[in-house]
Amino acid sequence: MNALQDKSPIFLVGFMGAGKTTVGRALATHLGYQFFDLDDLITERTGKSVQQIFSELGETEFRRLEREAIQSCAKLVRSVVALGGGAYVHEDNRSLLRAIGKSIWLECPLEVCLARIRGDKSRPLLGSEDEMVRLLAQRRESYADADYIVTAGEQNPEELSLKIAELLRQ
Ligand code: S3P
Repeated sequence: MNALQDKSPIFLVGFMGAGKTTVGRALATHLGYQFFDLDDLITERTGKSVQQIFSELGETEFRRLEREAIQSCAKLVRSVVALGGGAYVHEDNRSLLRAIGKSIWLECPLEVCLARIRGDKSRPLLGSEDEMVRLLAQRRESYADADYIVTAGEQNPEELSLKIAELLRQ
């Protein structure tokens, strides 16, 4: 059975700026699936932006809300979900996501990610280049645990989404 036959959700995983939301939207359109962004689900539930949650409640609370939002994805069918860059890092989340659907790591060179997100005030974890090198190094092993790995950063979102759809149909 291929990854689309049971209609379970498809999760896009990867670092900030890897293109999870843009590629996710294109993939959802291509598959005729609904699109969700996990950070938006958290914002809808709390009435606070990610930035506000980090500054007012702290990262630990954000991660708890993120886990709750992942749990809520269990009821989704025919959906593509773009996860936040830290959502696939915790083993508990990875096993939950594995039970719910299939995950795809958009493996994108750090310099491409950084060029896209430079100066973005809405990303509380965005720091110096050295900090980002370290953060990605800490996370790569977790991301590599995804069901599929796709090179991102070269093709445009439409091309990449076609490639992913092809992979999911195999
Ligand atoms: C985070 C990435 C963000 C958002 C939050 C934490 C991370 O999502 O969930 O700021 O830990 O890398 P994007 O990957 O969409 O920027």
